[in-house]
Amino acid sequence: MDIKSVREYLGKDWEAVVEKIETSLMSDIDLLNSTNSSILSNSGKQLRPLLALLIARACSGHRISEATARYAAAAELLHNATLLHDDVADNSYQRRGVPTIMSLMGPSVSVLVGDYWLVKAMELILGSSEGDHQVIKIFSKTLSDLAEGEMLQLQKAQSGDTSEDDYLRIIYSKTASLFEAACVSAAISIDASEECLKAAKDYAVALGIAFQIKDDILDYSGTESVGKPLGVDILEQKITMPLLGAIANAPAEEGRIRGLVKGIVDHSENRDGIVAFVKDNAGLEYAVQQLDKYVAQAVDALSVLPLSKERELLEELAYFTAKRVM
Ligand code: IPE
Ligand code: IPE
Ligand code: MG
Ligand code: MG
Repeated sequence: MDIKSVREYLGKDWEAVVEKIETSLMSDIDLLNSTNSSILSNSGKQLRPLLALLIARACSGHRISEATARYAAAAELLHNATLLHDDVADNSYQRRGVPTIMSLMGPSVSVLVGDYWLVKAMELILGSSEGDHQVIKIFSKTLSDLAEGEMLQLQKAQSGDTSEDDYLRIIYSKTASLFEAACVSAAISIDASEECLKAAKDYAVALGIAFQIKDDILDYSGTESVGKPLGVDILEQKITMPLLGAIANAPAEEGRIRGLVKGIVDHSENRDGIVAFVKDNAGLEYAVQQLDKYVAQAVDALSVLPLSKERELLEELAYFTAKRVM
């Protein structure tokens, strides 16, 4: 599937989102404007606002409201804010195929610009319509989820004892929670029925989990097209689904492998051995199975929605999540 064609299909609704993103970021500080423009010129997949528009249209029979575009724009701003912060946390020099703001302008700029995008997201949500109070609560929860997810990830990196439940909590918090906020707020924006709200939530949570599992698979097996450094999760002591799968398949090695991950900061030469352990013990196959399970759950959640082109595209985007190479 081609994401560009989804944008084109959404036409004026998509243009409204882009316009809200661009105008909300405008500042009279040149350095801020030029930094924002350089981020916007490499905008990534923009998956979260696309999902939001599709959900709103699928639940309403093709109609969106002014609030839909605002919330969708806010989800993308918030996503970019988390990436600006994440690249500092991960000390990462490349994203979307180009150098990160962190590497070009330093960690302080990346954090400050991230804060700016975050606040602009909140301002967009704080529009004028009645549902906004409820939506602020939803996005506030997502913001604490994001911080908690990243902190739990750091805590687990230090203790080295990440279980599959811990991992699922981390990826729900750092990734799926924002998918959820984007889709549920979109459903609220068009006064969707309870049934549609639940479908939006179930779809988005399962898809967000699938999306992060795929990101973690790509860290082991992706190519240049991913546009960011690969093979870095182990170096950051992140125990993700492929490694958890290999451990589940070779439990006798668990203590030794966890020990290697824990000591990786002083012994980066052990990374290749850990990657080989994952590949030799079908860790990637295990992760792909889990990925497919969550994609199926996402598609399943859509079954209560009326048939429409939007529902079809939401299904295709779920399959795209599993197949994507970027
Ligand atoms: C990257 O998200 C961070 C994760 C949650 C894995 P995306 O892959 O959606 O990033 P862009 O916006 O398309 O670059
Ligand atoms: C997702 O985790 C980051 C956020 C949700 C902010 P990663 O650290 O794996 O994301 P990438 O790989 O840097 O995009
Ligand atoms: Mg990162
Ligand atoms: Mg990653």
